[in-house]
Amino acid sequence: MKATAVAHPNIALAKYWGKRDVAHNVPATPSLSVTLSGDGLETRTTVQFDASLERDVFVLGGVPNAEGPLSRVVGVLDEVRRLAGTTARARVESENGFPTASGLASSASGFAALVCASLAAAGVELPLADASRMARRASASAARSMLGGFVSLGTGEGEGDDPAAVEVASSGHWDLAVVVGAVTLAAKETGSTNGMRHCRDTSPYYPAWVSDAPRLFQAVRAAVLARDLSALGTAAEASALRMHACMMASDPALIYFSGATVALLAEVRALRKSGTEAYATIDAGPHVKVLTRSPDVPKVVAALGSHAVRVLVTTPGDGARLVS
Ligand code: DP6
Repeated sequence: MKATAVAHPNIALAKYWGKRDVAHNVPATPSLSVTLSGDGLETRTTVQFDASLERDVFVLGGVPNAEGPLSRVVGVLDEVRRLAGTTARARVESENGFPTASGLASSASGFAALVCASLAAAGVELPLADASRMARRASASAARSMLGGFVSLGTGEGEGDDPAAVEVASSGHWDLAVVVGAVTLAAKETGSTNGMRHCRDTSPYYPAWVSDAPRLFQAVRAAVLARDLSALGTAAEASALRMHACMMASDPALIYFSGATVALLAEVRALRKSGTEAYATIDAGPHVKVLTRSPDVPKVVAALGSHAVRVLVTTPGDGARLVS
């Protein structure tokens, strides 16, 4: 009744931002990400079902019942209990090798590791697609971290309105490097779920973002399959900046950028001007992630170093897996 799983965060190259079905957490835009490993970017979660517990216990980074994520954690455990036919409560202990809730995608790795460990702890065997759907209902980007390499997640149209992440290419397909320039280690102010709702309700650019996203998704997908960095970088930057434009047009404005974010974007443009292929992407936080070729990593690390508090070097990694 006890299992431990490890999962990595992922960075979306084509962004998910907005929900087509809020109740079932179905994305409004198709997304494509790369699962990232290296420099401590992983979540390790142990789940133990224990009939003597009165309620579920969630310990994140050594802190019991960290408020925010608890109801979503219980949601996953309830689904697993239903499948296993048990009422036993669980103790969940989770550790992130990187700052939690800071925009380094800890909810993706966190819920992927939770789904993987809790299914195993309860003795439930599910096809990977169903485990990915379970992770999606908790946090849609987590559906993608169930798989390694390059992974897409659709909007459910033509998929029974219940999409699962699918592999586009394995981690060995392309030794793309992703250099993460972390600009603060503090938690972000507005989580993705609330940010998306606010954007949908108040941003006049939201319909344009949603209708343009499938085209960018197709461009990202074709570029990944062709291992074409300039095509990938161009489409990935457009996806990130259009998503942020939509956020900034909300009322009141939703601005995840900090001064360092803008400075890092300028560094990336300067790298390109001097002949180094580097492209930026930014999630719902201030950090800048830079796509580049592995031989150019030292140049990118040096360029990011003056504005980032920490620089992490990552490569395509594996999906969620059991370690015990
Ligand atoms: C900007 O998966 O965190 O990182 O489904 O509401 O939990 P919920 O949102 P979440 O949103 C991720 C948004 C993003 C883009 C992406 O990862 O595709």
